[in-house]
Amino acid sequence: MNDSGPAVAVEAQFQDLQPAQLDAVLAVEQSAYAHPWNRTNFLDALQSGYQAQMLVAADVVLGYFIAMEGVEEVHLLNITVAPAYRGQGWSRVMLDALALWSRGRGAQWVWLEVRVGNARALHVYEAQGYQRVGYRKAYYPADGGQREDAVVMCLRL
Ligand SMILES: CC(C)(COP(=O)(O)OP(=O)(O)OC[C@H]1O[C@@H](n2cnc3c(N)ncnc32)[C@H](O)[C@@H]1OP(=O)(O)O)[C@@H](O)C(=O)NCCC(=O)NCCS
Repeated sequence: MNDSGPAVAVEAQFQDLQPAQLDAVLAVEQSAYAHPWNRTNFLDALQSGYQAQMLVAADVVLGYFIAMEGVEEVHLLNITVAPAYRGQGWSRVMLDALALWSRGRGAQWVWLEVRVGNARALHVYEAQGYQRVGYRKAYYPADGGQREDAVVMCLRL
């Protein structure tokens, strides 16, 4: 028995996100956001044929991402790492997978929006080569009935 510290999942793999896994994904989503996607949001994304990948180790959901394909571009709609598995580089594994898939689909750019106050995500995206290209005013719901601006970011593939 190894009791030297918290377990670190290393044997991760990607799986298509299927409706049958939505309970596990929704549990992560609700633990990750003050304003999470709901089941309908995920089902709509799956029914629309968006790229939806889970990163799993054994039966544990480390994270997931959902992206919408456009003409020569891909729009990242959701990327989440489960709180217990943050700080281990899994967001970069998923962003690399997204970029590889996007190139394979003939995309030249990946777009995303991120809350102006989400310093951690902004850091991760910039470290992966995404650039700030604009703002969307009052794009996200925020606490107390307020709204929060989004930073628009773009990666040239
Ligand atoms: C954003 C998210 C996907 C990043 O995944 P992660 O596993 O936490 O990312 P990592 O731990 O691998 O990397 C985090 C990086 O941010 C840095 N960081 C952590 N907190 C930070 C902060 N408050 N400000 C700036 N940088 C920060 C870390 O130092 C690390 O950078 P480094 O590797 O250069 O040292 C994850 O935190 C998450 O799911 N958050 C909630 C959902 C979310 O915000 N999704 C993005 C919506 S656009």
